[in-house]
Amino acid sequence: MEVTVILSVLLWFAAHFRFSEGYGRVVRDVRLQSKDSNRLTITVKTTSKFHESRARDIADTWFQLAPENIFFFTDSFDDKLNKSLGGHLINTGCGKGHSRDRLNCKTNAELDLFTQRLSDWACHFDDDNYVNVKTLLNVLDLYDHNQDWYIGKSSTQRPVELDTKNGKVTFWFATGGAGICLSRALVRKMTKYVANGGFAKMGSYLSLPDDMLLGYLISHKLSVSLTTDNRFHSHFEDLALIDRFELAEQVSLSAGSYDKQVHNLVDVPVAFSTEIDKQRFRSLHCFLFSKRCPDIV
Ligand SMILES: *[C@@H]1O[C@H](CO)[C@@H](O)[C@H](O)[C@H]1NC(C)=O
Repeated sequence: MEVTVILSVLLWFAAHFRFSEGYGRVVRDVRLQSKDSNRLTITVKTTSKFHESRARDIADTWFQLAPENIFFFTDSFDDKLNKSLGGHLINTGCGKGHSRDRLNCKTNAELDLFTQRLSDWACHFDDDNYVNVKTLLNVLDLYDHNQDWYIGKSSTQRPVELDTKNGKVTFWFATGGAGICLSRALVRKMTKYVANGGFAKMGSYLSLPDDMLLGYLISHKLSVSLTTDNRFHSHFEDLALIDRFELAEQVSLSAGSYDKQVHNLVDVPVAFSTEIDKQRFRSLHCFLFSKRCPDIV
């Protein structure tokens, strides 16, 4: 009798608290199939400082939606993280830190993977993004990857004006913090500018940060204008304003402060404590993809 009680208590705990397995069971149905391996390449830019926090949050949540298609770009080796990412952790060798040249070097490495894989779609995200890969593919399916497409959220209200040797140039760019997607046709055209560190070199020459530089290359040099999609979100927006029941339609979400005073998080039922779910991505993932989430509040 007692043994049965203890056993059922143990089973109950096993069922409720091993959330990564719990996710896994649900997520299997929505996971991208191997046959779709060349439909999409996603790169996530991170840094060693965030391996145990932001990168871990992604590895446990939305990475599971397309583990064969998602690659992390960082600045150190990390066997533990690499293992949970199925060997998809790439040390760019660009060096640590957030200097402009290092970030451009990392973006160059991401673009190198885009040009190597030449999948239908190539998307960049940051390590503080939550990406609903299912919605992302539905959105991208509205466009033809054999045409040139540069899709994301415009970073500024007005186009950037840049003084160059050949006069003033004006262009729009998509903010890296909300995610950026490029069609295969466009990636193919970018190859010669990206090869041999060409993108990073262009960045040092023009003194532009990575996402603006990408805008310069695509909108100005290749004359492909930015297509703005409001389903991409960065931490510069008030994320709690997105209606809970519209979250499933969003391509990317984020977390973090746009202002030091504000804790900027998506509005979902809180299923995991703040200590283990600082960005609330675990709760969000559960809300979007699981029929049953732990009940904490
Ligand atoms: C991750 O694992 C892959 C495959 O074993 C390896 O090629 C790569 O160098 C590793 N990356 C890091 C950053 O540890």
